[in-house]
Amino acid sequence: MTADGPILRIDVITIFPAMFSSFLQEGVLAKAIQRGVVDVRVWDLREFAPDRHKSTDDEAYGGGGGMVMLAEPIFRCHEAIVASGPGKSPHTVLLSPQGRTLDQSIAKEYSRRPWIVLLCGRYEGVDERVRETIVDEELSVGDFVVTGGELPAMLAIDSMTRMIDGVVGCRNSVEDDSFYNGLLDFPHYTRPAEIRGLKVPEVLISGHFEKIRTWRKEQSLRSTLRKRPDLLERAELDPEGSKMLARLRQENAESAGNKEEDKG
Ligand SMILES: C[S@@+](CC[C@H](N)C(=O)[O-])C[C@H]1O[C@@H](n2cnc3c(N)ncnc32)[C@H](O)[C@@H]1O
Repeated sequence: MTADGPILRIDVITIFPAMFSSFLQEGVLAKAIQRGVVDVRVWDLREFAPDRHKSTDDEAYGGGGGMVMLAEPIFRCHEAIVASGPGKSPHTVLLSPQGRTLDQSIAKEYSRRPWIVLLCGRYEGVDERVRETIVDEELSVGDFVVTGGELPAMLAIDSMTRMIDGVVGCRNSVEDDSFYNGLLDFPHYTRPAEIRGLKVPEVLISGHFEKIRTWRKEQSLRSTLRKRPDLLERAELDPEGSKMLARLRQENAESAGNKEEDKG
């Protein structure tokens, strides 16, 4: 927490605020909220519905059967959020399968913003006039459609919060995570050193810091080469990493060659 308040404020607009209760009360996120590093406020859209039925959706113009989220409750809720803030305007994000896809770099980018509003759609989505006016950006969690924006919003909140310094106890574990430096994480083991005949790699119990560092770096490259070689096209490797990767590629090519010979 800074002297001026939380590092990141997140306001969520939803018709299902209860979905966020346990999410915000458990684990790393709950601790970050308790420590005042992040301030998450969940707004119940129904409270901003002007009619007595508290309607937040209506039939789509043009027919087709689907319901669309009404613009007016969203405008009112957004105005209340802006009025409750420090005077600046928040970065307003509509969760939508049509947006740019959430990844580690977006999570990092969001974690550096002071204030984000996450608008959760339902049904066919929100009235287009909302997107045209108050929405700065659409954010997707992948090329598939889920029922509502709440789960995508939770993914965004979780991924951006853990990028803030001090939120995850050990900074190394965030920096070693998959995607942080463009590669996948190395494999992890815990006690016992042997279980059902399966042993932990010797190097990890050697206590030799430098050897462990090199082993982990190589394993990270190995996993990336095997599972997500596309990441290597963009990864910025240091000279040691480039050398390791060249060797791993060479090994792969040789073992592929040996297999071909065995077949022949
Ligand atoms: C059933 S979806 C509507 C999908 C919309 N008719 C379309 O095809 O673009 C309802 C809401 O779920 C959320 N949603 C669905 N899939 C999503 C995704 N991949 N990423 C982020 N939000 C998503 C959005 O807020 C969306 O407004």
